[in-house]
Amino acid sequence: MEQREQWGTRAGFILAAVGSAVGLGNIWRFPYVVYENGGGAFLIPYFFALLTAGIPILLLEFGIGRTGRGSSPLSLSRLSRKFEWLGWWQVLICFVITTYYVSIIAWAVSYFFYSFNLNWGEDTKAFLFGTYLGVPGDAVTDSGWNLGGLRWHILLPLIAVWAGTYYVLIRGIKKGIEKVSKIFIPILFVMMILIVIRAVTLPGAGVGLDHLLTPDFGKIMPGFLGGTNPEWYSVWIAAYGQIFFSLSIAFAIMITYSSYIDKKQDVNNSGFIMAFSNCGFEFLAAIGVFAAIGFMAVSSGSEVKDVAASGVGLAFVVFPKIINAFPTLNGTFGALFFLALVIAGYTSLISIVEVLIASLMDKFRLSRKAAVNGVVGVCAFVSIVYTTGAGIVLLDIVDHFINNFGIVIAGLFEVILVGWFANITRIRDDNNLVSDFRVGTWWNIMIIGVTPLVLLFMTFKNFQLEFTKAYEGYPFHALLTFGWIIVGATLLIAFPLAYLFKWKTQEGF
Ligand code: PHE
Ligand code: NA
Repeated sequence: MEQREQWGTRAGFILAAVGSAVGLGNIWRFPYVVYENGGGAFLIPYFFALLTAGIPILLLEFGIGRTGRGSSPLSLSRLSRKFEWLGWWQVLICFVITTYYVSIIAWAVSYFFYSFNLNWGEDTKAFLFGTYLGVPGDAVTDSGWNLGGLRWHILLPLIAVWAGTYYVLIRGIKKGIEKVSKIFIPILFVMMILIVIRAVTLPGAGVGLDHLLTPDFGKIMPGFLGGTNPEWYSVWIAAYGQIFFSLSIAFAIMITYSSYIDKKQDVNNSGFIMAFSNCGFEFLAAIGVFAAIGFMAVSSGSEVKDVAASGVGLAFVVFPKIINAFPTLNGTFGALFFLALVIAGYTSLISIVEVLIASLMDKFRLSRKAAVNGVVGVCAFVSIVYTTGAGIVLLDIVDHFINNFGIVIAGLFEVILVGWFANITRIRDDNNLVSDFRVGTWWNIMIIGVTPLVLLFMTFKNFQLEFTKAYEGYPFHALLTFGWIIVGATLLIAFPLAYLFKWKTQEGF
């Protein structure tokens, strides 16, 4: 029987895990999430979420994968056959995310090339939505139904990203993923440090940093503790959401990656190293981004709040504008920034596609080659829809629903099923036995009590908000089709996948 693949070294595993964690979420998502949620004060809920949910779930998933020795469905079903559906739900969530995540990387590839001649011109917003994405008609009224044809200048970089992903995945764990992480992750950190050094030495950088770091405690506290924000809890929800997305937890990735580690190798220390590297990178990115925004505000005589934007706009509208205004070397700085975005996204994409590959290899005993061909083929084909004029609207709706109702609820089920119905003290003891340091009972309390409570509250609030206000004002039929139906389908398809097919894997249980 073929041996399960393994990471070559412990550092290789950690770098691959960091490669998955450090992604688009660190560079464009984190800075605006901090900014929107109380600036410096946001760091309190953020660290709280890291210690109460982020690291505990990370160590749980490392434990499940390390001893389960399988993709998420296999490792979970080795804990209990009744948990297998959850593994497939996570796998299908990964499938949905893969198809749109790759298109954002494709945009970054285009923008890398545009940097050299500052092709986006003065009106960077009109360039993004008009010239580049080619959104037809009115985005909100059309709401994704008016595809408006293929955009070849998005499709070509998309194909290139898929080719690069295929190249790595077909080589497998050690010769593919580990190798690419060992090369690219150190380069990425150096690039980010260069970007930050340049940004903080720009005139006006301090103004941006003040905005980022000045704490607004009123925003994060309930009224009876002196809070001024009636929706103070939304800040805490945002902190948990960022931690989940950023650490790549609760969607099968870390279970899959840890199923390839040497069974006798430390996990606790690796988990802490990985979590703090990711958060450190996130801080660096936020400092760089806000220093640059401060420079832009001062040099154009406007307010920081008028320069900063959220979502896609930050990386693809605001940044090109800032790069235009650079004193020297505009193109070089632009290329450096977008290349960092491409590399960060690429190593994350690899990890999420590996989840799909591993689960099919395990369940149907496919060779890596067959699984990679099938998975990359199907994902690449589906991802073409995001290169049409409607792509960004579809992406916006799908991303919102899969994050708020897919990942969060799958995470809730994970802590409840495993925390309440499996022997998690044994998972902890097993982890402690091989690790550099031991993790105490606080971990059980987080997994069994604190995390489920917080996630339950988040889910309740997310439903409430969804039914009181149409997301971004989109019409109901669009939210139903691209939101509820897609998330619902991932959950429904998980059950037949889990229980209609027998495990073909020889290892059994
Ligand atoms: N951790 C990633 C990030 O911060 C999130 C992610 C990983 C998303 C893998 C998709 C796939 O961007
Ligand atoms: Na991240």
